[in-house]
Amino acid sequence: TPATQIRNFCIIAHIDHGKSTLADRMLQVTGSVADRDMRAQYLDRMDIERERGITIKSQAVRMPWSADGETFALNMIDTPGHVDFTYEVSRSLAACEGAILLVDAAQGIEAQTLANLYLALENDLHIIPVLNKIDLPAADPEKFAKELADLIGGSPDDVLRVSGKTGVGVEELLDRIVQDIPAPVGDPDAPARAMIFDSVYDSYRGVVTYVRMVDGKLNPRERIQMMSTRAMHDLLEIGVSSPEPIPSNGLGVGEVGYLITGVKDVRQSKVGDTVTTARGAATEALAGYTDPKPMVFSGIYPIDGSDYADLREALDKLKLSDASLQYEPETSVALGFGFRCGFLGLLHLEIITERLSREFGLDLITTAPSVIYEVLTDTGETVIVTNPSEYPDGRVASVSEPMVKTAILLPKDYVGTVMELCQSRRGALLGMEYFSEERVELRYRMPLGEIVFDFFDQLKSKTQGYASLDYEPDGQQEGDLVKVDVLLQGDKVDAFSAIVHREKAYAYGTMMAERLRKLIPRQNFEVPIQAAIGARIIARETIRALRKDVLAKCYGGDISRKRKLLEKQKEGKKRMKMVGRVEVPQEAFIAALSGD
Ligand code: GTP
Repeated sequence: TPATQIRNFCIIAHIDHGKSTLADRMLQVTGSVADRDMRAQYLDRMDIERERGITIKSQAVRMPWSADGETFALNMIDTPGHVDFTYEVSRSLAACEGAILLVDAAQGIEAQTLANLYLALENDLHIIPVLNKIDLPAADPEKFAKELADLIGGSPDDVLRVSGKTGVGVEELLDRIVQDIPAPVGDPDAPARAMIFDSVYDSYRGVVTYVRMVDGKLNPRERIQMMSTRAMHDLLEIGVSSPEPIPSNGLGVGEVGYLITGVKDVRQSKVGDTVTTARGAATEALAGYTDPKPMVFSGIYPIDGSDYADLREALDKLKLSDASLQYEPETSVALGFGFRCGFLGLLHLEIITERLSREFGLDLITTAPSVIYEVLTDTGETVIVTNPSEYPDGRVASVSEPMVKTAILLPKDYVGTVMELCQSRRGALLGMEYFSEERVELRYRMPLGEIVFDFFDQLKSKTQGYASLDYEPDGQQEGDLVKVDVLLQGDKVDAFSAIVHREKAYAYGTMMAERLRKLIPRQNFEVPIQAAIGARIIARETIRALRKDVLAKCYGGDISRKRKLLEKQKEGKKRMKMVGRVEVPQEAFIAALSGD
């Protein structure tokens, strides 16, 4: 297809504003998917995505659309909507010339609408404002058309009104895409350059790489090169998704399609990288490549120690499809052998642990999420701490922690409550803005460590679900932070060490000591539980000694009952962990960690 007849666009929206439903309807209206093959959320392939109703991996699809007697190729690039995946969103946007800004006509603008809109504007995309779900009785298109027009400029009359559910307005939207979004421009005679905006592992075909051609052409069977690593691969297949994969005789300027080279690991085909040809290679990569960096760390342990090898295998498999997942082996006194894993954010962590248990049948325990602390020691050395048990005790000169800029959108009635919440999480107010009479944007700078600790749940419950949150990294900052240890009879229980703000150390210490006192059974001797900062004890609880012998209950005679009791004890012992002389059932650790 000549570039003049191509339109590349994406849909940006807040979660649940109906992006996938609208995409489905477009596939149907353009005849890309026959009615009888249609199923809800056609483009969301992963089960988890469908169940949670979120899009994790972006996808591209090519749809034919006729306007003014000409046939155009519309390439729709799906983008993930969640904050954890901002990097993937920004690459998908860079592959487009235009964006549909989709807003629920009963909800209005939300935090991710804004975050994604700003990303789209940074990428110079033409924006088409669209209100969705106009079939809903609660829809108020007049009000929200004005809100949208105020936000991006222009008149409320330019805001399209559609329903992804009924299909109303979808044809008009397709016409607008052809009319308003600029055709791609590039140099067909220059060396080939294609930007990778997604890379998906497929167990049958290996890695499928989605690209947007910028200059030149890629041909079938050509030898290609990844510009960040100079690695060479042979093209086994090149084609377009419409939406099923169809091999083509090459991709030219402005086209969007997929490449298959037989590589088995998405790290060999990285989002943001530039693909060129081995012969006549381009000299300059396209702008924008960065390695996604994990922000949140957590230890993942099998509940049954014999599952360790299976856990390793499962992580190796997930890594094939998720370049941002990081892990390395670690051991814990309390939990045994496991892995320290790095994630882009909390949702990413949740998705991975859910996939591990669902797709691989593993029973797992995860430690409290931690962020990256930079500890400067008294000898001037910097230690990067992603696991509190690696904290250089006694040698700490200062500690800095990662900060984020957050934007919270909420109805004005909740402003007071949310400000209190943010302040209790050490937030510094950056600004407050009214979007309409009742909706307000609050901007705070906050430590990321405060957000990973159930901030989002608190925000939702304090606003009855009406607030939305977005955040972006904003450097490191020194903080008054300390490490709190939890000790059983003087021995540290590594899985419970935490780095917290000094003012919260006491609360954390007493909470953990109390939980453990309730969870750990009595022993033959008294067991003190302590929380400490270095050598200083900040909280203490005691488990009193057990007096009676277990067997004392069985009055001599009943041998079989005695034996049963001993067997039972033996079984229980298997899952006991020793902390110094203290026997602790693993369930107690698990319960203490999960706060049950
Ligand atoms: P993410 O992929 O997670 O960003 O969500 P999404 O924006 O794709 O939302 P999705 O298409 O899954 O729709 C969210 C919910 O809104 C679903 O329950 C849909 O059935 C419903 N919905 C979507 N479009 C419409 C619409 O036009 N009218 C009505 N009444 N409901 C809609």
